[in-house]
Amino acid sequence: MEVGARVFKHGRGLGIVALDNEDGTWNVEFDDDGAEGDFRAEDLVLVNSLSWAPAGVVPYPWSQEKAEGHIRFVCFSDTHGMHDLIPREHRPPADVLLHAGDFTNTGEPEQVKSFGEWLSAYPAQEKIVIAGNHDITFHEQYYKTRGAARFHRGGAYDCHKARSSLTGCTYLEDSSVDVLGYKVYGSPWQPDFCDWAFNLPRGQEIRKKWEAIPDDTDILLVHGPPAGHGDRCRHGRVGCQDLLEVVQSRAISVVVAGHLHEDHGCTTDEVTLFVNASTCTSEYNPTHRPIVFDLPRREQLRPVTEAAALHREAQAPRKGKSP
Ligand SMILES: [Fe+2]
Repeated sequence: MEVGARVFKHGRGLGIVALDNEDGTWNVEFDDDGAEGDFRAEDLVLVNSLSWAPAGVVPYPWSQEKAEGHIRFVCFSDTHGMHDLIPREHRPPADVLLHAGDFTNTGEPEQVKSFGEWLSAYPAQEKIVIAGNHDITFHEQYYKTRGAARFHRGGAYDCHKARSSLTGCTYLEDSSVDVLGYKVYGSPWQPDFCDWAFNLPRGQEIRKKWEAIPDDTDILLVHGPPAGHGDRCRHGRVGCQDLLEVVQSRAISVVVAGHLHEDHGCTTDEVTLFVNASTCTSEYNPTHRPIVFDLPRREQLRPVTEAAALHREAQAPRKGKSP
């Protein structure tokens, strides 16, 4: 710590270190109202060190041990009923497994059941799953009105049976769970595409779903990616702009999506780590590696992400200002 450093104080905001009190505390002058306060260095976050994503991607999870006090996450998506074909070297142990939807071809209960068994056997303490556009029996209204007639002409499945076949995990659908201290929110919706399950028109309708994401979310699990992050396919970039805007109005540490098999990997806007965890390739081979990342405990993660989000806000051009 030094005089002149830009700092963030959780619950208070951004400021500048004005004085070393030489008693183990530093005097900080806050940006918003010029008020000041004395704090210990460990209670302040240096803003200049925030030009990195606050979540650490782990490229070699078998040989890289997580740092002390960290939690390891392993992400899958779009396994399309082929979970049993995922090679062993692509199933590293973790604390939390996240699956971003499309665990079946078209919501077949037997595939759901088999997926639940695969999850139960996976070496992770917690498993969190959402549905995707292919998991059509999970979207009862769509399935009954159109999905069954389109995909299962030989005989429709029982939607309740399909849902109750999913065991071995916490299933999220526009809902949150507290896992090992982190707030995880999951939602299956994506912008309209060829009339599949959980489709909604871009704009107001889908935005309503995203606005329900709680402000204190640390990890967001969605099926379709936000615009500009893991959203490339043969039609170009097709991610959801409304989702991006809502994500960037919050301090979310990680967004995990799938859906677009072609754009597997990670990106960041220096606040959020964006993951496209599609396990299947464009040819539907389940051979992409899972994305693994380690997070510090929420008490450390949250202030850093919030500070990075405030920094982003300060850098953004003001809305409504003429050029
Ligand atoms: Fe999908």
